Amino acid sequence: MPIDLILDPSVLAKELSGYHLINGKLVAPKNGKTFDVLNPATGKVIGQAADGDADDVAIAVAAAKAAQKDWAERPARERGKLLAECGRILMSHAEELGRLVALESGKALRTESRVEASVLADMFVFFGGLASELKGETVPFNPNMMTLTTREAVGVVGAIIPWNVPMMLMAIKVAPALVAGNAVVVKSAEDTPLAVLRVCQIMQEVLPAGVFNILSGFGPSCGGPLVEHKDVKKVSFTGSVETGRTVYRAAAEKLIPVTLELGGKSPMIVMGDADLDKAIAGAIGGMRFTRQGQSCTAASRMLVHESLHDEFVKRLIDKVNTLKMGDPLDEETDIGTIINRKQFDKVCGYIEVGEKEGATKNELSALPTDSALSDGLFVRPVIFTNVDPNARIAREEIFGPVACVFKFKTFEEALELANDSDFGLAATVWTTDLKTALVATKRLEAGFVQVNQNLVVQPNLSYGGIKLSGLGKEASLESMLEHFTYKKTIILNME
Ligand code: NAI
Ligand code: MG
Repeated sequence: MPIDLILDPSVLAKELSGYHLINGKLVAPKNGKTFDVLNPATGKVIGQAADGDADDVAIAVAAAKAAQKDWAERPARERGKLLAECGRILMSHAEELGRLVALESGKALRTESRVEASVLADMFVFFGGLASELKGETVPFNPNMMTLTTREAVGVVGAIIPWNVPMMLMAIKVAPALVAGNAVVVKSAEDTPLAVLRVCQIMQEVLPAGVFNILSGFGPSCGGPLVEHKDVKKVSFTGSVETGRTVYRAAAEKLIPVTLELGGKSPMIVMGDADLDKAIAGAIGGMRFTRQGQSCTAASRMLVHESLHDEFVKRLIDKVNTLKMGDPLDEETDIGTIINRKQFDKVCGYIEVGEKEGATKNELSALPTDSALSDGLFVRPVIFTNVDPNARIAREEIFGPVACVFKFKTFEEALELANDSDFGLAATVWTTDLKTALVATKRLEAGFVQVNQNLVVQPNLSYGGIKLSGLGKEASLESMLEHFTYKKTIILNME
């Protein structure tokens, strides 16, 4: 049955309150417990989330396991067509989903949340089209033996997702996993359980019951049991380095494969010959100021050639100052709020640390004046200059609207500064010189390197980092084949 559009996110939040989605149906948690979901722009409760635990994990994994066999036996293109159909239906719900994610996450509707909803839909259409690529090879092993490989589903996949782009980061796990013939159990992030639950509910219109299940709950009590469950054969995780390590350890006990996407401290090198207009626009987009900097790829280390440094800083400040903070659901708003009190305190703490470390603080934009938003978790964007490359603000992931700008003299110095990081997710270089661009792309230690642009995750561009940024790739054909299937070698003796 088609699901009606509910464009008022407060109404929709209440309708979805208190549920998981298991085996095609919204169900309450076994223990009957729920926790509040807040609007971070007002501090008000907008609904409840099911407080799932190991009992719910067991029910969801059993449903997934039961459904997976038939699902994997369907022709690949049939699965692909169903996933593409999900994408089309999700697109018709994009406005509704954008509003709901704006309400629960504090991300502005126009600049972020609506965009996320349409990328989500596009990911399902894209992966649906890849079904025919689940193919193997023939191997010239022995003329008397036909030797070939096939791609097989791994079984039940556990996916643990964060709150910053919850729907899209869920899609880049769920879509390839399902197309490849797996069933999935997602554990949503505590702060954003509702929009992803709605996505799963909408997809039930098309999918067989049990292939896509979603649980809400806390990390240790719900995410932990999901990773540890004996029938979960692969885990895909996006979140913090610390939790990534915990997930990796638990998966190691079971010897199952893991994909980890863990964040970064991404450099943006602006050479003296760069087009400054483009670099400023790229810095604003790359730093995700409109998402309060809550991005794993945030271009939070801006390395600018000394000849452009002062002009770059001045124009960046002017531009960020024009961004309007306000109610995430207001079309005028560019910048919404930080996700929760804990992250708010963390970000504010780093801003204090930066000042104590002696960097120059430029605090920008203006807090909203609307009294309805007085309890909102708004943080004014900060651009630090005169930053010591060994300062904590220069090295640690802040995950807030805080950028550090550094000055360099030589290209070599810029590359060394850029690579001197525990992380290796993304990097950009801004130059009009071909040789500089080529050398930089070769030498920058990161999984995702761009020249003269700062695009976000795109369908079919393998996305994922090195060093503490994680393991494995997402969003591409490679991610589906390498991370959601295993390769089987088959030899037929013809003698
Ligand atoms: P987190 O890593 O604790 O949470 C991410 C997900 O993991 C959530 O669904 C959470 O419930 C789950 N989780 C937590 N503990 C778990 C456990 N023991 N077993 C299984 N699942 C568990 O991240 P958090 O606390 O929300 O944010 C802290 C920091 O993490 C941020 O300041 C940021 O630096 C980083 N982060 C990075 C993200 C990225 O896109 N790579 C996204 C979100 C946060
Ligand atoms: Mg945590």
